[in-house]
Amino acid sequence: MARFWRPGSEKPDSSSSYPSAARDDDYSEGVPFAMPSSYQSGYMSIEKQRQSLPIYKQQNSLLYLVENTSTTIVIGETGSGKTTQIPQAGWADGNQLIACTQPRRIAVQTVAARVAEEMHVNLGLEVGYSIRFEEISTPGVTKIKYLTDGVLIREMMEDPLLTKYSVIMVDEAHERSVSTDMLLGLLKKIQRRRPELRLIIASATIQATSIAAFFDNSKQRQLVDKDKSLPSRKPAILSVEGRSHTVLIHYVEEPVDDYLRAAVSTTLLIHKMEPSGDILVFLTGQDDVDAALQLISDEAENGSEGIFVLPLYAGLPRSDQELVFSPAPRGKRKIIVSTNIAETSVTLEGIVYVVDTGFSKQRFYNPIADVEALVVAPISRASAQQRAGRAGRVRPGKCFRLYTEDFFMHEMQAEAVPEVRRSSLVSTILQLKALGIDNIMRFDWLASPPAETMVRALELLYAIGVLDSDAKLTSPLGLQIAELPLEPMVAKMLLASAALGCSNEVLTISASLSVQSIWVSGKGRLKEFDEARERFAAAEGDLITYLNVYEAFLASKKSAQWCHQNCINFQAMKQVLDIRAQLSRLLQRLGIPLKSSGKEIQAIQKAVASGFFVNASQLEVSAEGDLYKTVRGGLKISIHPSSVLFRATPKWVVFKSVMLTDRHYMREVTAIDPAWLTEIAPHFFQCRK
Ligand code: CDP
Ligand code: MG
Repeated sequence: MARFWRPGSEKPDSSSSYPSAARDDDYSEGVPFAMPSSYQSGYMSIEKQRQSLPIYKQQNSLLYLVENTSTTIVIGETGSGKTTQIPQAGWADGNQLIACTQPRRIAVQTVAARVAEEMHVNLGLEVGYSIRFEEISTPGVTKIKYLTDGVLIREMMEDPLLTKYSVIMVDEAHERSVSTDMLLGLLKKIQRRRPELRLIIASATIQATSIAAFFDNSKQRQLVDKDKSLPSRKPAILSVEGRSHTVLIHYVEEPVDDYLRAAVSTTLLIHKMEPSGDILVFLTGQDDVDAALQLISDEAENGSEGIFVLPLYAGLPRSDQELVFSPAPRGKRKIIVSTNIAETSVTLEGIVYVVDTGFSKQRFYNPIADVEALVVAPISRASAQQRAGRAGRVRPGKCFRLYTEDFFMHEMQAEAVPEVRRSSLVSTILQLKALGIDNIMRFDWLASPPAETMVRALELLYAIGVLDSDAKLTSPLGLQIAELPLEPMVAKMLLASAALGCSNEVLTISASLSVQSIWVSGKGRLKEFDEARERFAAAEGDLITYLNVYEAFLASKKSAQWCHQNCINFQAMKQVLDIRAQLSRLLQRLGIPLKSSGKEIQAIQKAVASGFFVNASQLEVSAEGDLYKTVRGGLKISIHPSSVLFRATPKWVVFKSVMLTDRHYMREVTAIDPAWLTEIAPHFFQCRK
C-alpha cells in the first residue's frame, strides 16, 4: 500500500522534454473548473476537435516544407494531431498513396478507424490499414494507409523501392523500436534511388537532431542536384506548438512493495477525493491490467460507485477498443488501465489523473547467455514525463507517481536505450538478407547495434540452416523462411513439419503462436483457469496443448460460449482460424503439402525441436529445486508456472521465449528426446559436446 503523497513541485513540470505551453494560472486545486460548456465533459464534436488541434494551424507550413524538402521531421507532443491529421493534409498524387507507420498494431487499427470516421468514409476504402495477417484496404481506392513498420518492411520484399507511395510518414520515431530504426535505415537507402520520395518523420520528443543529421544528404554531390524540380536534401524540422496544461506531480514518500496493489488503491483514492475527470493507470502487461481490473471491480461492488473501468493493451479486441475512446456513461468516471500503449501511441480524451507505476515490460538481450527476455523494468525519465503529460490534455491535471522523487532523479535513466541495442537481431538480420543487403555489418543504422549481437544472430541463422557458410540465404530453406510472416524459428518448425508428415498440426500450432494469447488471463479466476487448462493439458507440453484447444474449439462448432466456459479467448481463437487459413495458402504457394500425423504426437514434437533446438535445455536436479540449463549459453532457467509442464519437469525440453522476473523463466515449453538433437542439427550439437 502506498504511503501518501507529498506534492513534488508546485511549479509546472519544467523538466518536461516537450514544448509546453503550460499555463500556471489556470490551475486551481479542488475547485470545480470553469470551462466552456463544450469542454466540460472533455469531449467535443469531431469537426471542432480537428480544428482545435495544434497541427491544424500549421498545415500550410507543413505542406510547404514537404513540397520542398526530402525529409521533414515533425515534433509535437502527443495529442497535437500528428498521426490523424498529417496523412489527411491533401497529398493525393495520381495513383500513389501515403503510408503512415506505427510501431504498434493496436495504434494502426484505432487510428485508421478514427481517420475514416473523420473523413466520413468506410474503413478499408479511402483509408485502410495493414498489420501482420490483416490487410484492410482496396487497391486503386485507398489513398491513406496506416501500417506497422514491420509490414512496410515486408512490402519491400515485393516492391524494394516502395514505388506505391509518394509520401511515407514514420510515426512514433522517438520510440526507437527495432523495426522503426531498421525502416529509417532502409528509407535512407531508398531516398538515394528515389529523390522525389517525401519522408515525414514524426516524434513526440525533441531529440530530432540526430534524426536530422542521419537524413542529411545535402553534402553528397550528385548530378541530380542540378534538377531544380527535386526537393532539398537537407532535412527540415517543424515544431508543433504544444498546448498542454500544468500537471502537478505527486511522489510517494517510501518505495511501494507491490506496484499493482498500490496502483489500485491510489486509483480508488483519486476517485474518492478528487473532482471529476478520467483516470489513466499505467501498468506493464495484459496480466497486470486484467488483475488490476478485477481488483478495482471487486472494490466497486463494495461501494465505489460511479466508475467505468476499461482495459487497454495490445491484444484488445476491436469492439473493446472503441469503448476506450468514447465518453463514459453519463455521471460515471472512466478509468483506463493500460500498458505502455497509452504513453504516446494513442491519444485519450478526458484524462485528468495519471497513476504511473514507473514500470514497463521491456526487451533485454544478453549476448553472453544468448537469450532475449522480457523484463519488467523501470521506465526512463523521458517516459515518466510523457506519462505525466497525458493528464494535462483538457485541463490542469495530476500525476501520481508510485516511486519516490529520489528514484526519479537518481535511479531512472534520462532516456531509454534504443531497442536495437537490447534485442536479439535474428529476425532483423534475416529480413535484411532477404532484402538483398548482404553486408549487414555496414548497414546504416541510426544507432548501431553491438557487433557481438549481430555475430550471434548470424551464428543462429547458420545453425537453423537459413544462411550458408558465406552468410548467403540458403535455397530453398532460407528463402522460404524469409517468405513466411513468422519468427524464423517458428517458420523453421513449420517447414520441418512437412517432411515429418505433420504440417497440418504444426500449422495450427504456428497460428496459435501468432496471437497474443489464446487464454483469458487467469488472475481473479485462478482456480477456474487452472482447471480449464488441465482439461486440455498435453504431457508433451504447451504447444501440443494448443493443438488440443484448437480441436476442442472446432468440436464445439466454434462456440463463443464454450470459450467462455473454458477460459479461452474467443477473439483469439477466431484469429487463429484466420491466420491458419492464410498460412495454409502460403504453404501451398511454396509447394509444401499439408499432411496430418493423426495421433502420432512424436512427429509433432520432432518438428518443434527442429525449430527450437537452439533453445534445448536439460534438467539439473539441485538443492535449489528443479532447474534447467540451456545447451547454448549454459543459462540456469526454470519452467514458468503458466506452463502445463510446470510440475512435470521432463528431462529435456525446448522453449519458445524467456521471461525474467526474480529468475529466468521459459515459456511455451515442449518435452523432447535428446537423441533427436544430434539427428536434427548434427553440426550444432557435435561442436557443443
Ligand atoms: O499523433 P498525435 O499524438 O499528435 O495526435 P493524434 O493521435 O493525431 O490525435 C489527435 C486527436 O484525435 C486527439 O484529440 C485525439 O483525442 C483524437 N483521436 C480520437 O479521438 N480517437 C482516436 N482513435 C485517435 C485520435
Ligand atoms: Mg500519434
